[in-house]
Amino acid sequence: MSNLKIGIILGSTRQGRLSPQVGEWVKGVADKRGDASYEIVDIADFKLPLLGEADATEQATAWNVKLASLDGFVFIVQEYNHSITGALKNALDYAREAWNNKAAGIVSYGSVGGARAAEHLRGILGELSVADVRIHAALSLYTDFENGSVFKPADLHLTNVNGMLDEVLAWSGALKSLR
Ligand SMILES: Cc1cc2nc3c(=O)[nH]c(=O)nc-3n(C[C@H](O)[C@H](O)[C@H](O)COP(=O)(O)O)c2cc1C
Repeated sequence: MSNLKIGIILGSTRQGRLSPQVGEWVKGVADKRGDASYEIVDIADFKLPLLGEADATEQATAWNVKLASLDGFVFIVQEYNHSITGALKNALDYAREAWNNKAAGIVSYGSVGGARAAEHLRGILGELSVADVRIHAALSLYTDFENGSVFKPADLHLTNVNGMLDEVLAWSGALKSLR
């Protein structure tokens, strides 16, 4: 097992959100590999106000300390109006160096697999010097969630999650030399 630490970041914070189910599934798949240390990072726990809206030194510090402790990320991305959530964008904006020179993979969901949100996220990650890997698991709200609420992923997604994690670990390790 490598000593790499990978954070699985839940991108949504609304009540009734589906992201914890998806994040736990990804963590379960990742933990079975036994090749790194994986943890769920829930943006909601950090209670970040909108950037600049209030003095949030304590929350911003806690968020940056958590990110700084990680070598790479898996973003659980849900599509809101063809993009990422406001909560995820706000959380991305709250840090800079703590993101830099790390790798990230994406697991997204939406009516078309969250593909439009995932592509928007890739543009933002470029500005934060996060190396986003190619392989991407795209889950359908129609076929991977029973009644749109209970997560029952099709088997084929396992291949993409594992392929994505292979790339995230390889790049997270390689980028260590830059950090
Ligand atoms: C404000 C809002 C906008 C949405 N816009 C889209 C959209 O553009 N495309 C899409 O596929 N799904 C869209 N959805 C559906 C969400 O992807 C779906 O509700 C998903 O479960 C949200 O993730 P969450 O449950 O983790 O919050 C939208 C949902 C919300 C709340």
